Amino acid sequence: MAEKPQKWRVVALRRLSDAQLAALSQVAEVTYFEDLNSSNQADFLLALSKAHALIGGKLELDEAMLEQAPQLQVVATISVGYDHLPLHALNQRGILVCNTPDVLTETTADTAFALIMAVQRRLVELANLVREGDWRAHIGIEHFGIDVHGKTLGIVGAGRIGAAIAKRGALGFGMPILYTSASSKPELEQRLGAQRRTLDELLAEADIVCLCVPYNTDTHHFIDADALARMKPTAALVNVARGKVVDESALIDALRYSKIRAAGLDVFAQEPLSADSPLSTMHNVVATPHIGSATHETRTAMAQLAVDNLLSVLTGHGSRNGVNEDTCQRVANAAKET
Ligand code: DGY
Repeated sequence: MAEKPQKWRVVALRRLSDAQLAALSQVAEVTYFEDLNSSNQADFLLALSKAHALIGGKLELDEAMLEQAPQLQVVATISVGYDHLPLHALNQRGILVCNTPDVLTETTADTAFALIMAVQRRLVELANLVREGDWRAHIGIEHFGIDVHGKTLGIVGAGRIGAAIAKRGALGFGMPILYTSASSKPELEQRLGAQRRTLDELLAEADIVCLCVPYNTDTHHFIDADALARMKPTAALVNVARGKVVDESALIDALRYSKIRAAGLDVFAQEPLSADSPLSTMHNVVATPHIGSATHETRTAMAQLAVDNLLSVLTGHGSRNGVNEDTCQRVANAAKET
């Protein structure tokens, strides 16, 4: 699909190891930016204007930058999500996007479970009590948490990560599992006894609602004031998907007025979360700085997969983990016909 130039030029952006950069340098001229800031932005744009491929995490690309990058053929993102990329504009130009699925599934499910434990047992709030020297008497009822085991776990979006969270809940904590999905998941149903529900049913029945859907126009503010009103007042919301899946002002309202009990949030509409946001200080919120996949092992594996995805294209072995492969093929075919 990709047209082979005389020598591939790759722009690489945080964070690749020396070995990964060396592997890319075997087949391409690589310009590496360990970080992007105002002092190297012009260098980055210049390199991009000549590049055939871009690889990295947190790629901040927009249409104007694509206009200035006429030779770009491949974008290898070090993430499973690609909602940060201007996919429509990339599709129009036939630029292939490759992502990093699977390698982060278990780690992200661990993060979701950490949030579930934290919100149910009020871990952060109570650990802060000790840290701040305020543990002066036996803990009484006002500090009790809520069990995790045996509670009903609702998985909104039972894809790979959702299924891995469901497995932890069912097999580790004896939790009844409910899930929403475009199609039924016989494996989850047989192995974990999971039951498929509509979103409204799941919201009404679950003690913990865990969001695992990808972000796109269909899931923008998927959890709005109406959806939050359907949840039990004792329930908690956990989000490891994307911040904009939730209407944040409706969520703040629901938490402030006890329409739901608590929230565990790893993702936000605006990241980093502003210190002014009520979500950063509410006692019934556990907020983490988008750490879903952020372990040494998993971030290394993600970077390696992105490198392998790119090398596959650059060495003529075709697209690997391409998310818009069919579109790129159509654009290439149309270009041949004209
Ligand atoms: C992803 O891979 O999309 C994660 O959200 C990045 O941490």
